[in-house]
Amino acid sequence: MNNPVYWAVLIGMTVLLMEQGLPVRSQRDSQSDNKVMDNITVRQGETVFLRCEQGDVVTRTAWLNRSSILYAGEDKWSVDPRVSLVTLNQEEYTIKIENLDMADEGQYVCAVQTNSQPRTTSVNILVQVPPKIINLSREIVVNEGSNVTLMCQASGKPQPSVSWRLLSPSGDLVSDDEFLEIPSISRRRAGSYQCAAVNDIDSDVQNVDLTVNYAPAVTDGRDVGVTLGQMGVLECEADAVPEADFEWYKDERRIFNDFDGMEIVNTGSLSKLTFFNVSDADYGNYTCIAVNKLGSSNTSFLLYVVIEPTSSTLLQGPRAVQDGSGGAMGVHSHNSVLFIMFVSFLLRF
Ligand SMILES: *[C@@H]1O[C@H](CO)[C@@H](O)[C@H](O)[C@H]1NC(C)=O
Ligand SMILES: *[C@@H]1O[C@H](CO)[C@@H](O)[C@H](O)[C@H]1NC(C)=O
Ligand SMILES: *[C@@H]1O[C@H](CO)[C@@H](O)[C@H](O)[C@H]1NC(C)=O
Ligand SMILES: *[C@@H]1O[C@H](CO)[C@@H](O)[C@H](O)[C@H]1NC(C)=O
Ligand SMILES: *[C@@H]1O[C@H](CO)[C@@H](O)[C@H](O)[C@H]1NC(C)=O
Ligand SMILES: *[C@@H]1O[C@H](CO)[C@@H](O)[C@H](O)[C@H]1NC(C)=O
Ligand SMILES: *[C@@H]1O[C@H](CO)[C@@H](O)[C@H](O)[C@H]1NC(C)=O
Repeated sequence: MNNPVYWAVLIGMTVLLMEQGLPVRSQRDSQSDNKVMDNITVRQGETVFLRCEQGDVVTRTAWLNRSSILYAGEDKWSVDPRVSLVTLNQEEYTIKIENLDMADEGQYVCAVQTNSQPRTTSVNILVQVPPKIINLSREIVVNEGSNVTLMCQASGKPQPSVSWRLLSPSGDLVSDDEFLEIPSISRRRAGSYQCAAVNDIDSDVQNVDLTVNYAPAVTDGRDVGVTLGQMGVLECEADAVPEADFEWYKDERRIFNDFDGMEIVNTGSLSKLTFFNVSDADYGNYTCIAVNKLGSSNTSFLLYVVIEPTSSTLLQGPRAVQDGSGGAMGVHSHNSVLFIMFVSFLLRF
């Protein structure tokens, strides 16, 4: 191992490899003993064995990386713990490199010094890397009408192709690019979007939730008729993102939850105003206002009197809207019914 000529050859070879790119090829032209092996394709993290045949009268042998000597005979030159010697005998000289990464790509050369002349064998290592999404838009919340751009960048080798899909409700492919642009977004485009990065080796898939905020829209209030002393419920429903807060008014006066004999219960998009025991003073015009940070919407209802047929001395209440069991809450459906209600309402005063 101390032969200075040998080291001179090795170092000269290394310099050649570094400075001239492919000296092995040009050597092969004049030197029939030299071989250029096929590419070896491995996946990131795998182990590769580099084997070169020795032949009879080998005096010195070495494995070289693109720019440095990895092993010279049994002596390890590389400081990389992933590189180790497997076999060195008359037939073969094999080293292995574990846990391969992209930086290990390139040409590896086995240099053999026989009695007569140097001989080289080279191999090109290609490292494949599964796709990995490295830069993804996260939990986007926008207002309706905004221009939205979702981004999904992925690494991998070969370079992965990236696409976007709207998961719910459609499942349609919406972009075959790392950027998904949605101009002037509507509430119907809200949902879960999926980015997929795919190459020959594998795929990486991640989801992004896109929330579109919009101002409340309340559904028209339905007037409610209730018999004195019975229970009555006014319902107000609002479509809004984020969910609306509700306010209730009787005429101009705000109603709060702790008012006597009333209860306001909000569950998501629905607000219920319940009168446990309707009194004369409760009849009238109620307004529900739904509010979120983007705006508000309102609707009004009449809580009107329904006369129990048996107790009425003024007018016969229509049976159609009576609940005989005492629930006594109905929603009018005919103009004639409404008229009778209204008259009986007026006659109370
Ligand atoms: C080895 O890979 C390189 C780069 O991908 C390619 O240009 C070359 O043709 C391949 N050689 C062989 C022998 O497959
Ligand atoms: C080969 O050389 C490059 C630098 O030129 C280095 O980054 C890489 O880790 C080396 N590979 C091995 C297995 O030593
Ligand atoms: C992700 O993309 C943004 C916008 O293009 C950029 O500012 C950021 O540096 C990227 N992050 C990574 C980890 O690439
Ligand atoms: C959205 O993009 C369009 C066209 O590029 C532009 O005219 C409009 O002002 C943008 N809207 C917003 C809210 O940025
Ligand atoms: C409803 O209120 C009236 C008057 O305050 C009262 O007489 C009646 O007992 C109450 N009914 C119920 C079911 O609480
Ligand atoms: C109830 O009140 C609202 C708001 O004050 C008003 O717009 C509506 O006309 C009223 N309805 C009736 C029947 O008086
Ligand atoms: C109710 O909505 C109407 C428009 O639909 C608006 O003009 C009115 O000011 C609102 N009333 C309240 C009390 O917010």
